[in-house]
Amino acid sequence: MAARCIRGAVTVDNDTAAEVWAKTESMLGEIIRCNNIAPEDIISILFTATNDIKSAYPAVAARKMGITEASLMCAQEMYVEGSLRRCIRAEVTIESGKPQSGMRHVYLGGAQVLRPDLVKKSEGISVAIDGPAGSGKSTVAKLLAEKYNLIYVDTGAMYRAVGLYCMEHGIDPDSRREVSEAMPGISVNVENSMGMQRIFLDGRDVTSDIRTQEAAAYASKVAAIPEVRSALVAMQREIAKNSSVIMDGRDIGTNVLTDARVKVYLDADAYERARRRCKELEEKGIKADIEKIAEEIRQRDEYDKNRQCNPLTAAADAVIINTTDMDIEQVQQAIGSLIEKALLR
Ligand code: DC
Repeated sequence: MAARCIRGAVTVDNDTAAEVWAKTESMLGEIIRCNNIAPEDIISILFTATNDIKSAYPAVAARKMGITEASLMCAQEMYVEGSLRRCIRAEVTIESGKPQSGMRHVYLGGAQVLRPDLVKKSEGISVAIDGPAGSGKSTVAKLLAEKYNLIYVDTGAMYRAVGLYCMEHGIDPDSRREVSEAMPGISVNVENSMGMQRIFLDGRDVTSDIRTQEAAAYASKVAAIPEVRSALVAMQREIAKNSSVIMDGRDIGTNVLTDARVKVYLDADAYERARRRCKELEEKGIKADIEKIAEEIRQRDEYDKNRQCNPLTAAADAVIINTTDMDIEQVQQAIGSLIEKALLR
């Protein structure tokens, strides 16, 4: 074991304590995740911040994440004409058996432009997983993201956030005019930290609030509106431009990432999908009515498959996997072998 150094940098849009801590957390989370280390492996972290950050010490985020043993230090950088603004940098020292050349440095936000030579795009692969509600996309995508060191992007969550906005603001999700007029004022952001995606609506963390059946129904409706799709698809492509992703949704293989190296369309019998949703809800202690859920799934399938704009359909070059009689491990293996084949190509 020897001391190794991992570097990270991230920019914040606004100098607020909440954003400084959230962005620092996502940078540290990414360092931990893509280097496959435990918080206990960290010996020390030196943080620096440009002198236009005055609201908070980034080191507080490390403590909040449970990095309690490491020694932490924050310092302000000198201002150099033309340098990146509102930037937080970290130098993480760890104990590792790996060589220094095996360390993965992490540059997020505007900091990505700083050291493109150090930003590793994992193995430079993107994986598109499409399919109807309840086909097992998100469960399997999260497992594969972990295994192959990919960033998991749940695009449905973005449509749900817009749906939630409409629910909360009395906007009719069937009205293209109402929704498209509201769209420029709706801010949806995603953050990836520790292999988890968190979603923010106008700065509020709505990761759990979007998981209701009502938000899902709103999401399906607003997802048919071209102005909503073009805004969210642009965000999704931007994320994929900067990192290796496994992205799930309805139009990833056919529209968002048409050149994805692996494309999968997951399907399953509608009643089986309803049964899985019921099980998920019951595990959370929520009583569920299978007939009602089956009907909601049927309605959502109908909407998602029959809309004009990028409907749910398998890409011509997608591998179609019917998961009705498969367990999650079998699905993971089937897609995993496609990813491995693509990595060898
Ligand atoms: O995957 P999900 O159930 O969270 O998605 C919610 C809704 O969002 C879904 O019914 C249709 C829409 N959606 C979409 O149109 N395109 C995507 N890429 C992802 C989701």
